[in-house]
Amino acid sequence: FATNLLANVGFGDALGMAKVPNAVIQKYEGSFFSFIKGALGGDLQTLAGGPLFLLLAKYYTDYGPIFNLSFGPKSFLVVSDPVMARHILRESSPDQYCKGMLAEILEPIMGKGLIPADPETWRVRRRAIVPGFHKRWLNRMINLFGDCGERLINDLEVRANQKTTVDMEERFCSVTLDIIGKSVFNFDFGSTTKESPVVKAVYRVLREAEHRSSSFIPYWNLPYADKWMGGQVEFRKDMTMLDDILADLINRAVESRKEATVEELEERDNAEDPSLLRFLVDMRGEDLTSKVLRDDLMTMLIAGHETTAAMLTWTLFELSQGDPQMLREVQAEVRTVLKGKDRPDYDDIVAMKKLRYCLIEALRLYPEPPILIRRARTGDTLPAGGTELKDGVKILRGTDIFISTWNLHRSPELWENPEKYDPTRWERPFKNIGVKEWEGYNPNKITGLYPNEIASDFAFLPFGGGQRKCVGDQFAMMEAAVTMSMLLNKFDFELQGRPEDVGMKTGATIHTMNGLNMIPKINDEIPETTGWWEARSKSVQVNGHSI
Ligand code: HEM
Repeated sequence: FATNLLANVGFGDALGMAKVPNAVIQKYEGSFFSFIKGALGGDLQTLAGGPLFLLLAKYYTDYGPIFNLSFGPKSFLVVSDPVMARHILRESSPDQYCKGMLAEILEPIMGKGLIPADPETWRVRRRAIVPGFHKRWLNRMINLFGDCGERLINDLEVRANQKTTVDMEERFCSVTLDIIGKSVFNFDFGSTTKESPVVKAVYRVLREAEHRSSSFIPYWNLPYADKWMGGQVEFRKDMTMLDDILADLINRAVESRKEATVEELEERDNAEDPSLLRFLVDMRGEDLTSKVLRDDLMTMLIAGHETTAAMLTWTLFELSQGDPQMLREVQAEVRTVLKGKDRPDYDDIVAMKKLRYCLIEALRLYPEPPILIRRARTGDTLPAGGTELKDGVKILRGTDIFISTWNLHRSPELWENPEKYDPTRWERPFKNIGVKEWEGYNPNKITGLYPNEIASDFAFLPFGGGQRKCVGDQFAMMEAAVTMSMLLNKFDFELQGRPEDVGMKTGATIHTMNGLNMIPKINDEIPETTGWWEARSKSVQVNGHSI
């Protein structure tokens, strides 16, 4: 790899970019043998000697908010600056950046679904799908979240009585899979209560999608890979099974189609089938012959399931680790608001602000996904942001870009005590005047129930930002608030083993290494609190930054 090192010297100049530092991954990788293993397996994680986003975090400390990263012939511009992220995600035209290599990787699974879709397909599909997530539907979904949460509670009650350990990460994956199945295509995976071949197929497809997204050799494109490569043969079978199920669900919905306008559909109750599929099939003018409906359903199954599960997992983990007063405050809030009820309605969720901020704080420390991927379709110039590059950074057509949400969310330039799980931070403004053109975090700019990219001026991107922002953000936050409040209302949780044994590994989402093993204990008493949250919310911490 001496050649690689040479090829990277002055790479920025060769592409006509303003000079940004070069990081060559091979230089930092742990051992020669793991490099060879990574290169042969085409696996970025092995090549990087651990999760790629952690390597990018190290380079961020060494090189600052923008640098080039090269793996052999491939190179990426890694961006960890809110002003540059704002430019790419919101200020440039929607045609200027596409999903690039992410689309290439996901195409065999999601087709032209909304996440990988090219800008032209995306424009048409986004317009069709967004109305499906209307306010009345979201409110109706709260009941569904409660029903699925109830199955989980029943199971945990049994485990609590037996005093057995439960892997809560696995439980959260089951409950979110059941929710996405019912809400998106009215299919009951029933994964909270039983194992089935379909559920296993979903998980194997997810793992394959994650493996592909961390590979730089497209092994799945090798000739006839699905005929002779063990994992690929199985993957093909799983995809066929899921495709058959989706085709059947779509056909059944089409057979009972009752066309209507979007406004009429929003009023419709559809109690027996409130799914998004029903909405899309009934929508007047929707083209039901093309494959994009299947692609969008598959995309939402994959995008909307483990992301929410990960947020729940890390919230429960952090709450069980932090100051015991923090957990007591949140449980006191939940148990007071629910007052003997076993599930919340919309107004209850509005009243549970501490719980909501705990959930969103988990997405700051564990962003899902930890990297956003783009490719420049035309030349562009990024603003200088927090760098000294006076003329900004020139981008050539075809440049692959990683926006590191992990680095943004944990940057000491953008947050006070960034490594600390502190949900009260969302109550306090923060601004570093050293980062030019960045407005800072301002709680007065929160418009909905959660702080997001707008309130933080693109330093916090829990659901991305701009045109390609997540369509399921409100859905996911509501789902998580219902599930977590039902659990904290009824149980205390005791982590088994040391916190550091929980570990972390990643694909598209950040998973634990060894599960989140906890013993649930039934308890619904309202704990005593000492005003810890309020005191912290008011305190303004300066930390050398201007506020
Ligand atoms: C896009 C995160 C839940 C469907 C995105 C993006 C992020 C994200 C960061 C932007 C990706 C990019 O810019 O490249 C999350 C997180 C979730 C979550 C953290 C849960 C905590 C959901 C759910 C659904 C969903 C529940 C569907 C029911 C989508 C879709 C897109 C997307 C379709 C593509 C939007 C577009 O390109 O127009 N999500 N998501 N997500 N998400 Fe989510």
